[in-house]
Amino acid sequence: MAFLWRKKRRFGSLEEKHRDYIAQLFRERALFEVPMKNYTTIKIGGPADCMVFPENPDELIHLIKYAKSESLPVTVIGYGTNLIVKDGGIRGITINLSKGFKGLEIEEGEKNIYITAGSGIPLARIVRLGMDNGWSGVEPLSAIPGSLGGAIMMNAGTHEGSIGDIVDAVWIIDGDREKVLNRESLKFDYRSVNIQRNHPVVKVRLKLKKGDREEIKAKIQELLRYRKETQPLNYPSCGCIFKNPRKISAGKLIEDLGLKGVRVRGAKISEKHANFIINTGKATAKDVLALIELVREKVKEEKNISLETEAVIIGEE
Ligand code: EPU
Repeated sequence: MAFLWRKKRRFGSLEEKHRDYIAQLFRERALFEVPMKNYTTIKIGGPADCMVFPENPDELIHLIKYAKSESLPVTVIGYGTNLIVKDGGIRGITINLSKGFKGLEIEEGEKNIYITAGSGIPLARIVRLGMDNGWSGVEPLSAIPGSLGGAIMMNAGTHEGSIGDIVDAVWIIDGDREKVLNRESLKFDYRSVNIQRNHPVVKVRLKLKKGDREEIKAKIQELLRYRKETQPLNYPSCGCIFKNPRKISAGKLIEDLGLKGVRVRGAKISEKHANFIINTGKATAKDVLALIELVREKVKEEKNISLETEAVIIGEE
């Protein structure tokens, strides 16, 4: 009887044998039953069964191989700045790249500078490096939150350009090996890249150009000011919810339909920028997803446009 009880004992949906194995391997770098609201900027999301903070490619390969052999799902996250986790949380292993992968190497040529940086580095640090040294190419990325790895997966950007414009190479883990994707094999599109989701980005090489330090600084400061003026940065959110349909700002479209301020319980369409849904305090993923559906339906009905989410939605109901 006792044996049967032990055998069936689970932590969330994770069997005890998996928990023991991962805890023994990663010690304080493995957490169990973690509320995802603590790992997303919109501060929403049910528990992840298991969250691991690997620090090098070998640990990543080991984890991914283990998960595959035990048929456990793997989810890779960065700083959670563009992420909505459903209220039922995430099964299997959640790999969090935000604490490891912080290496930084700089090669300075005559005209170009190559920065090779770990995926766990904040994008803001790269922008700061460019600003302080007069290295051009980082300007369009100013004021974008998130990690370098996350920025690659989303091809993060603004109207001024995207990270894909300055990427020279990306190292990822593909199954049981590290693989380098060079410029020619990478295809960046509006908020997307041809790297499969949940294939962890390990590091990235960016190519910048020597430029005028004052000009670069002024551009970055202007973008920071614009963002502060036009976006609700003092509320929990996950950035823009929808991708802009061709040539139109989703925010303008939503505002024109009179939807600013509309809420579903704790989730509200920002009065400042209508492509932001803010968590006013006690929003659940269910509230946010209901608000997303409400907007999509209204936009389809009134404008015959199908809005696609930019925010990545994961997890179980
Ligand atoms: N506008 C409105 N009402 C709104 C929002 C915008 O009328 O509620 C108007 C603005 O006045 C402006 C135009 O729409 O004339 C464009 O607005 P904005 O400059 O804010 O740009 P956006 O297209 O709404 C994009 C990115 C943002 C990025 C800004 C600034 C997308 C989905 N969004 O927004 O990125 O910060 O440009 O460059 O591409 C994100 O990706 O998470 C994000 C916030």
